[in-house]
Amino acid sequence: MTHSRCFSRKMLLNSVLICVTLCSDLSCGFFAASSRRPNIVLILTDDLDVAIGGLTPLSKTRRLIGDAGISFTNAFVASPLCCPSRASILTGKYPHNHHVINNTLEGNCSSRSWQKSEEPHTFPALLKTYGGYQTFFAGKYLNQYGHSDAGGVEHVPPGWSYWVALEKNSRYYNYTLSVNGRTQKHGADYSRDYLTDVLANMSLEFLQYKSNYQPFFMMVSTPAPHSPWTAAPQYQDRFNTTKAPRDPNFNIHGKSKREEMKVWRTVSSSERDRMGLSLMLVANVDLGPTILDIAGFNVNKTQMDGVSFLSAMVRTSMNSSSWRTDILVEYEGEGRSVPDPSCPLLGPGVSECFPDCVCEDSYNNTYACVRTVTPFANLQYCEFDDNEVFVEVYNVTADPYQLTNIAKTIDQEVLEKMNHRLMVLQSCSGPSCRTPGVYDARCVTES
Ligand SMILES: *[C@@H]1O[C@H](CO)[C@@H](O)[C@H](O)[C@H]1NC(C)=O
Ligand SMILES: *[C@@H]1O[C@H](CO)[C@@H](O)[C@H](O)[C@H]1NC(C)=O
Ligand SMILES: *[C@@H]1O[C@H](CO)[C@@H](O)[C@H](O)[C@H]1NC(C)=O
Ligand SMILES: *[C@@H]1O[C@H](CO)[C@@H](O)[C@H](O)[C@H]1NC(C)=O
Ligand SMILES: *[C@@H]1O[C@H](CO)[C@@H](O)[C@H](O)[C@H]1NC(C)=O
Ligand SMILES: *[C@@H]1O[C@H](CO)[C@@H](O)[C@H](O)[C@H]1NC(C)=O
Ligand SMILES: *[C@@H]1O[C@H](CO)[C@@H](O)[C@H](O)[C@H]1NC(C)=O
Ligand SMILES: *[C@@H]1O[C@H](CO)[C@@H](O)[C@H](O)[C@H]1NC(C)=O
Ligand SMILES: *[C@@H]1O[C@H](CO)[C@@H](O)[C@H](O)[C@H]1NC(C)=O
Repeated sequence: MTHSRCFSRKMLLNSVLICVTLCSDLSCGFFAASSRRPNIVLILTDDLDVAIGGLTPLSKTRRLIGDAGISFTNAFVASPLCCPSRASILTGKYPHNHHVINNTLEGNCSSRSWQKSEEPHTFPALLKTYGGYQTFFAGKYLNQYGHSDAGGVEHVPPGWSYWVALEKNSRYYNYTLSVNGRTQKHGADYSRDYLTDVLANMSLEFLQYKSNYQPFFMMVSTPAPHSPWTAAPQYQDRFNTTKAPRDPNFNIHGKSKREEMKVWRTVSSSERDRMGLSLMLVANVDLGPTILDIAGFNVNKTQMDGVSFLSAMVRTSMNSSSWRTDILVEYEGEGRSVPDPSCPLLGPGVSECFPDCVCEDSYNNTYACVRTVTPFANLQYCEFDDNEVFVEVYNVTADPYQLTNIAKTIDQEVLEKMNHRLMVLQSCSGPSCRTPGVYDARCVTES
């Protein structure tokens, strides 16, 4: 019943809204030299890509949260797949360090190994254990959460004082929740069961019954608007004529490897300038470090790969030319060891072929990229782990729709440096993930 893939190809960025509310004036014995312990709310939604207008209908959200804060237009995910991406948010690590490589239990999605080696070190666990935070989770966790081979819904990850988690992947009705480790089944009555509303109501309840003597961290993670796209009845017809934007790269087939690469496009620079938004390069691995930093925790004491962007959020005298210039993107192609029954001619190594034999492909679609963003370079460099080690480079400044691969025409010295940088990042851990990139001012002035 559940759909194993969380993101469709063109809808990749999870939308993340962070609100820092009401400052708590309690001092803190646990967190390094700080008395700052504000309450923090993190809202995570699926499949809301700015590039295809995903946020357009959410006018209230934009008015109440977006317009009141800061938006990052160069925000990326370390892996364009659901479970690895969620694991990166929770751990602050790149996939090669948290070892969640796809959406299955064998790929470490909510597996026993994950529970043992990563879950105790997620940022919510640090907030609760060392920061004295009350922590509340409601919604979709990791795609295989609740699997009977990994503890079922009785498993409550360390780090959560209140736990309301959806079993497995996105649903709106007829689902099972873990409420602090106890099964709660839901049917299909809108006023009692519609998941988005259940999560909202439980979140409001938490805000009422929480203690007022400790700061809180609340994470609400709605599957909406992920497939199966079951709208609430009052919104059923609201978008029945809406289409995906027909950008120049719309419906361009060609090699699947090309298509797969359009995923990190963000808004155009003119739009960005008009909106006056932050250009700093941030990624989902930065959310944990940033939230810990908000809570006054010394992020250097963690194993996280990301970096706190708190200083950019509070608009202190941030020198953006000393900000990081690149991030790593890692993706393991998805495929099964047996041919897909609907497309036997393709042989093994493919998955998600239904309905048109346009499949995910584990042999030709495992790749890693360096995504560079500086005031004078906006580049995407990728290497595919296929039999020809295909290299793909896009100059996103000149070619925002990523239609022309410049691997053959770009300065070959730059290409070599990018190749080396990719190798460094693919084996980095903690501080070594934050070393200067090819276009870093610190490197450029040296040469
Ligand atoms: C799953 O995680 C464990 C522990 O981190 C690791 O040893 C194993 O190689 C991972 N599995 C995969 C398929 O990456
Ligand atoms: C929920 O389950 C009921 C009973 O099995 C079924 O009739 C209904 O179609 C299901 N609804 C949804 C939205 O899955
Ligand atoms: C949420 O709470 C409102 C107000 O109490 C109620 O009308 C609604 O039915 C609740 N929805 C669900 C799905 O529990
Ligand atoms: C779209 O919704 C409107 C308003 O409810 C309705 O009148 C119209 O028939 C719907 N169109 C389609 C194609 O479903
Ligand atoms: C964390 O480490 C960086 C780099 O070594 C250093 O500049 C910074 O001052 C450290 N921060 C704290 C709070 O210790
Ligand atoms: C910002 O940092 C760059 C490189 O580290 C330096 O050259 C520049 O002078 C700094 N600018 C300001 C305003 O401090
Ligand atoms: C997920 O990764 C595991 C471990 O490498 C692999 O056995 C499995 O086939 C992968 N699943 C998919 C759908 O790619
Ligand atoms: C993968 O690439 C190889 C050669 O590059 C090709 O023979 C094969 O058909 C490709 N597989 C799929 C599923 O496209
Ligand atoms: C990318 O394109 C811009 C605008 O055309 C150009 O100024 C820049 O030099 C190009 N960068 C590379 C690395 O080709």
